[in-house]
Amino acid sequence: MERVLVLNGPNLGRLGVREPEIYGSASMADLQESALAWGSALGLTVDVRQTDDESELVGWLHEAVDARAHVVLNPAAFTHYSYAVRDAAAQVTTSGLLLVEVHLSNPAAREAFRSHSVVGAVATGTIAGFGFDSYRLALEALAARLRG
Ligand code: DQA
Repeated sequence: MERVLVLNGPNLGRLGVREPEIYGSASMADLQESALAWGSALGLTVDVRQTDDESELVGWLHEAVDARAHVVLNPAAFTHYSYAVRDAAAQVTTSGLLLVEVHLSNPAAREAFRSHSVVGAVATGTIAGFGFDSYRLALEALAARLRG
């Protein structure tokens, strides 16, 4: 089975508590449970992780390259300014693996600073604005692409 790392950046461990009117009332543990179920229905081995630490996120992207795992990435605030995350994400896609950038909210419809993603240009594609369904759609898109 193909492996997919579902990687989440800063403050996403606060899902359910943090601005529920934007991010919903479900937790990261709920997302983990849903993503594992979606993955197994699609024939994917899914590993969901969250960190507030930029270097840890960069390390996980390196791990994806070395382990030949595809990536679903919600870089959270790093989306908008982290060239380190962007460069690590580029290593995933330039090594022939798929990387889908996801967002729970639609950053383009929010504050101006959220309208630019430094990660988007190196991602295979981006899905934003559908809450947890952004992750489900990303896994479905990955599975469809892997089926050819
Ligand atoms: C987010 C959008 C980002 O702008 C924000 O910094 C986040 C979450 C989202 O999933 O909607 O932390 O990536």
